Amino acid sequence: MTLTTRLLTADTWDDFAGLVEANNGVWGGCWCMGFHPPEPGVAKREAKQRHVTRGTVHQVLVFDGDRCVGWCQFGSPEELPTIKNRRTYDQAADPAPDWRIGCIFTNSKDRGQGIATVAVAAALDEIRKAGGGTVEAYPEQTEERPPQRGAYLHTGPEELYARHGFTRVRKIAKWRWVMRAEIRDEPAPSTTLPLDGEP
Ligand SMILES: CC(C)(COP(=O)(O)OP(=O)(O)OC[C@H]1O[C@@H](n2cnc3c(N)ncnc32)[C@H](O)[C@@H]1OP(=O)(O)O)[C@@H](O)C(=O)NCCC(=O)NCCS
Repeated sequence: MTLTTRLLTADTWDDFAGLVEANNGVWGGCWCMGFHPPEPGVAKREAKQRHVTRGTVHQVLVFDGDRCVGWCQFGSPEELPTIKNRRTYDQAADPAPDWRIGCIFTNSKDRGQGIATVAVAAALDEIRKAGGGTVEAYPEQTEERPPQRGAYLHTGPEELYARHGFTRVRKIAKWRWVMRAEIRDEPAPSTTLPLDGEP
């Protein structure tokens, strides 16, 4: 696979819509609207497309060649207010994060090949370019429980975020954690090896 990323915009809407439609609307018609503010009476597809038109969605799409194979949604808490386990989440008075990562999705036939890993890395790059800050995700613990099918990991597995530097903050459901990472506006300076002859 040769994976590249693009943002969800009017130009990439058809690619995103094709992936959603190939996966039965995702969860039977969610259209990745679960974290956005509810819009009663508006069909999910239309509601999502309106976000794209208004520019109120941040979402990385992953492509294998010209085929869209996955995404990672991110945004401010105002853009993505509808997190699961909200009541438990609200019991702690942690300062609000600057960013949230919401839904993550890989085409059902292409899982286990690093697509979600690329999607999260690209989302964090976008966040860095936008100034960085505290980023929160809400993944599922997979250790110490029976193997979970990818289908049930709509906020991603903990391993996916751990490998991008996220650490556990607190548990908000039996298997769901708030995890956070600090993303700086510039990548951390890379460690360079001394040239031959240099001290
Ligand atoms: C969860 C999901 C995003 C993972 O995507 P993927 O492209 O297969 O993930 P990757 O290959 O990049 O793997 C990333 C990490 O997660 C781990 N992982 C992936 N699937 C896993 C599973 N089912 N159980 C445990 N760990 C898993 C991998 O081992 C890897 O860990 P590592 O970095 O330590 O090696 C994918 O299974 C999926 O899309 N599920 C459906 C989610 C959904 O319904 N989303 C819709 C929201 S509206």
